Amino acid sequence: MSRIVYVDGAFVPEEEARVSVFDRGFLFADGVYEVTSVLGGRLIDFPGHVRRLGRSLAELALANPHSEAEWLALHRDLVARNAVTDGLVYLQVTRGSAGDRDFAYPGPATPPTVVMFTQSKPGLADAPAARTGWTVIAIPDLRWGRRDIKTVQLLYPAMGKMMAKAAGADDAWLVEDGLITEGTSNNAWIVSRGRIVTRPLGTEILHGITRAAVMRLARESQLEVEERPFTLDEAKTADEAFVTSASAFVMPVVEIDGVRLGDGTPGPLARRLREIYLDEMRRAAM
Ligand code: PDD
Repeated sequence: MSRIVYVDGAFVPEEEARVSVFDRGFLFADGVYEVTSVLGGRLIDFPGHVRRLGRSLAELALANPHSEAEWLALHRDLVARNAVTDGLVYLQVTRGSAGDRDFAYPGPATPPTVVMFTQSKPGLADAPAARTGWTVIAIPDLRWGRRDIKTVQLLYPAMGKMMAKAAGADDAWLVEDGLITEGTSNNAWIVSRGRIVTRPLGTEILHGITRAAVMRLARESQLEVEERPFTLDEAKTADEAFVTSASAFVMPVVEIDGVRLGDGTPGPLARRLREIYLDEMRRAAM
C-alpha cells in the first residue's frame, strides 16, 4: 500500500515525493530528524520530541520551519491519512537546496526541506524481542563529537548495526575511553547493586526522550537512578542491562560480547520499567 508522505508543505503519495539532488541533507548530511512512536493511533511523548527538534535545529543555526502546534498538527494529519495504529513518524529537516554544491551555508532565501513519513508497525509495543532480550556487541565509538544533536549522519550507527548482525547480535554498544556511550540508536543502561545506572547527558550521547521519561518514572517509583559513566567491564558484570529509544521503548539486554547477564533472561527491573513506561506513555499519548 502506498503511503502518503509529507514533503515541503504537501501531502503526496510516496511515489510522487521528490527532493533535489542538491539538497544539503543528501550532499552534506546537513539536517536533523526525529522519530516519534505511535500507539493506538496516538503520539507517544510528543512534547519531548518536538522540543528536542527545536534544540537540534538551533544548535545547527537552522531555522525551525514550524511552531510546536504546527508540528503536532502535521504529525496527527500524517498518522490519520495513513491510518497508522502502531508505528513511527519519521521527520527530517535539512538546510534545503541552494541549487548547487557549496560547503558554506546558503542564505535565508533557501528554505529548509521538510520530509515526514510514517512506518506502520502493528504490535510495536508487544515485540517478541522484549520477552527474550537483545544481545549486543561492543564496538569503538567512531562518531563525531556532537552526538547530542540528532543529525541524519547515521553511517557509523548503520555500520555498527551491520557489525552486530555479522556477529549474530541484535545491536552494538559504543565504547569510548573504556566507557559505554550508548547503543547505535538507543541509550544504554545497566543495573548494578540495585541501582539503575546510565551515562550523564553531554555532547557524547543523544539526549534520549525515552531516557528522560524512564528516569523520571523510575524515580517516581522510588527506584534509585544514578547518572554516571560506566565501563564495558562493569556492564558485563551487571545484574541487568537495557536500552531505551522511541522505537524499542525499554528493551532488555541479556548478553554483552557473548557474556550472559544474570541468568540470561530479561531482568526484573527492565521488565518493570518497560511496563511502567508503556502504561504511563499510553495514558499521556496525544
Ligand atoms: N534513535 N541514542 C541514539 C544514538 C539514537 O539514535 C536514539 C534514537 C536514542 C534514543 O532517543 P529517543 O529515546 O529519543 O528515541 C539514543 C531513533 C529511535 C532512530 O534513529 O530511529
